[in-house]
Amino acid sequence: MVDIYTKPELYDAIHQAYSLDKNLITSIAEKAGGPVLELASGTGRLAQLILDLGLDYTGIDSSVEFLKSAIHEFGDRATFHQNDMRQFELDQKFNFIFIGFNSFLHNLTDEDANQCLQSVFNHLTNGGTFLVSTFIPDPSFLYREKGKQYPATSPFNFDGSRCRIMETNEYEEETQINQLTWQLERDGTLEPEKYHYRMRMFYPHMMDILLSDAGLRITEKMGDYDGSPMDEESGMQIYVCTKD
Ligand SMILES: C[S@@+](CC[C@H](N)C(=O)[O-])C[C@H]1O[C@@H](n2cnc3c(N)ncnc32)[C@H](O)[C@@H]1O
Repeated sequence: MVDIYTKPELYDAIHQAYSLDKNLITSIAEKAGGPVLELASGTGRLAQLILDLGLDYTGIDSSVEFLKSAIHEFGDRATFHQNDMRQFELDQKFNFIFIGFNSFLHNLTDEDANQCLQSVFNHLTNGGTFLVSTFIPDPSFLYREKGKQYPATSPFNFDGSRCRIMETNEYEEETQINQLTWQLERDGTLEPEKYHYRMRMFYPHMMDILLSDAGLRITEKMGDYDGSPMDEESGMQIYVCTKD
């Protein structure tokens, strides 16, 4: 099995058209001001939004390959560090810290999540803004037929081919971790290489507890990137928090 976060070109090809989160991140960043820190910044998909606002941007990520790709694209216009979001120490505080695109779910245990949010607290200025966005766990996704391949993406262009990602998953109830396996379907043919990643499911009541325990006060809860409030129909949980 290959770690999905070692293939930056594939990641960028899959997400090149994805823009649902961009308006919200931009508007919160604009209000919060810089400097800005993104956790799990990946290949820098969201970095340009922050730079376009004229704000200083720092991204941290654990993937050497993704960081290399981000540094290649942004050069000295942005700062990228290899760091573990579960415990990091930077020599700076930030007015806006965010972790988008479900990346918070890579905190696989309560302890990981607590440590991550404690590190956020330590790096946030008083009155600063923190945003975290993930999907709300969906039983119809977690309890899908074991071993069955489901399409995980729309078709996209990669390496001269029309591709999509096919996925299987296995949800472990004891750990609340969803194990996902991706395979690339290239021009209609499934490739043998398997990509793996894991996501811990955090339900909204747990996010309330984790954020409060870290000293982060929730100022706004949204159920979608369009800013609509979180309710029983919501697929997303987006928290905007502050440090008093
Ligand atoms: C879904 S991608 C999101 C990338 C980027 N933020 C975006 O919106 O496109 C998740 C990212 O989390 C990173 N990651 C996973 N575990 C991490 C950890 N413990 N510390 C830092 N980064 C981590 C991966 O390397 C990957 O770049």
